[in-house]
Amino acid sequence: MADMINLSKKFFYDWLKKYPNGPYKYDFHVPEVERWAKFILKSHPEIDAEVVLISVWLHDIGSYPISKKDHAIVGESIARKFLKKYSYDKKKTEKVLHCIRAHRCRDVFPNSKEAKLVACCDSASHLTDYVYLSILTGARLNNSKGLADYAFDKLERDYKDLSAFPEIQKKLTPIYIKWKELLKEYKLIALD
Ligand SMILES: [Fe+2]
Ligand SMILES: [Fe+2]
Repeated sequence: MADMINLSKKFFYDWLKKYPNGPYKYDFHVPEVERWAKFILKSHPEIDAEVVLISVWLHDIGSYPISKKDHAIVGESIARKFLKKYSYDKKKTEKVLHCIRAHRCRDVFPNSKEAKLVACCDSASHLTDYVYLSILTGARLNNSKGLADYAFDKLERDYKDLSAFPEIQKKLTPIYIKWKELLKEYKLIALD
């Protein structure tokens, strides 16, 4: 059977190459999500690692080309076609599609362990990269209070989404507190 994890990884990098000037740092973000997934999977053998890792590589694939549509919905449909092309197991396909559709924890919420893990890793990765600072530097550039507030809201949402894995939320609590302090100080300067 095809190695769907590696095929998904290749699909992700081929897709990314088509958008070299895209605004989102997926070349950094998605490997960081993978890193968290592999770390958490070590202590959760009951979770289907294959479903999780395929979903990690495909979860943001609906983001480019940029449109007004929700990238989770677009991504679900791209992933469906991709997995069908390789005749991937139907039950697992549905599991992957749910992970992608629910990863934002907005209108559709994760209802499986795998989807909860993908959503948790997506949020955890934000706490260990520079997404809040990049939003705040954008706020400074555009003198936008809206963007600055967005960085705070995102941090709060991300921290909340970690709660499905309390051990990870606990591990990231010190950095969450520091981000909050840093964002507060930066915001005061950014919008001076
Ligand atoms: Fe996303
Ligand atoms: Fe993501």
